[in-house]
Amino acid sequence: MRKRIVAGNWKMNLTFEEADELLDELMTELEQASLPRDAQVVVCPPFPFLEMTTDYANDSYFMVGAQNVSEREPGAYTGEVSAEMLKSCDVQFCIVGHSERRAYHGETDALVAAKVNRLLQNGLRPIVCVGEVLAEREEGRQLEVVGRQLSEGLFHLDASQMAGVVVAYEPVWAIGTGKTATPAQAQEIHAHIRSLLASRYGDATAQEVSILYGGSCKPSNAAELFGCADIDGGLIGGASLKAADFMAIVKAL
Ligand code: 13P
Repeated sequence: MRKRIVAGNWKMNLTFEEADELLDELMTELEQASLPRDAQVVVCPPFPFLEMTTDYANDSYFMVGAQNVSEREPGAYTGEVSAEMLKSCDVQFCIVGHSERRAYHGETDALVAAKVNRLLQNGLRPIVCVGEVLAEREEGRQLEVVGRQLSEGLFHLDASQMAGVVVAYEPVWAIGTGKTATPAQAQEIHAHIRSLLASRYGDATAQEVSILYGGSCKPSNAAELFGCADIDGGLIGGASLKAADFMAIVKAL
C-alpha cells in the first residue's frame, strides 16, 4: 500500500548554520513524535547542505531528497549535479518539474521525462510536480494541463518504474501565496491523477503511487487536506523552514 509522505522543500533558503539548527530541531522532534507506520518524512535542502542533511538523517527518522538533478550522464557539464552523485551521497528522493524550475529554468515535460529516467536508473525516487497556473484554472483547463504534464513527463515509464514515483500536485497559484486549494479542489485533481494512472497502468499501480499536495500547506489546513481520499501527504515550502510548523504538518499525516 502507498506511503503517506510529508516532504519539506527548502528551496533557496537558509545558511549553513540555520540549516544545521533546523535539522537539529527536527531530529529531536521526530524522536519524540509517534508517527503512523506508513508515514515517511523527507527533507529536501539545497545541494550544499545535502551532506550535512544525510548525516543527520542517518541518526534520525527522515529521508533526504535533492531539489534538482541533471538530465545528462556524468561529464563536462560545469555546475550540474548528476543522479550518480546524489546516489553516492545517500540521497533517496529528488524533486523534478517544480513550477519554479518550469517557470525560471525552462524545465519542459521532455526535460522532466529525461530527469526522471536518470533518477530511476540510479535507484532514486523522483517527486514529480504537476499543476496549473492561475490563467489555466480560470479557463477551466486544470485537468487537461495536469494530464499533459503526466503523460509527457511520466507515461513513458513501465508500471514497475511508475510505482517508484511520487507525484506532487502543486497548483501554481497556491505556491507561496497563502491561497491554498480547498480540500475539494485538491481532491478533484488528485482523484483525476489517480484515474489517469489507473487507465495507463491499471488500478494496482495507481493505488501504489503517493500523490502529495503542495501550495500554502500549513499546520492549520494540513489535516483537512490529508484527510481527503486521494491526498497522501504534502510537499511543503515555506512552512518546512520552521521546525514547529513542519512537525505540526508531519503530525497531521
Ligand atoms: P509553499 O508551501 O511555500 O506554498 O510552497 C509549496 C511548494 O512549492 C513546495 O514545493
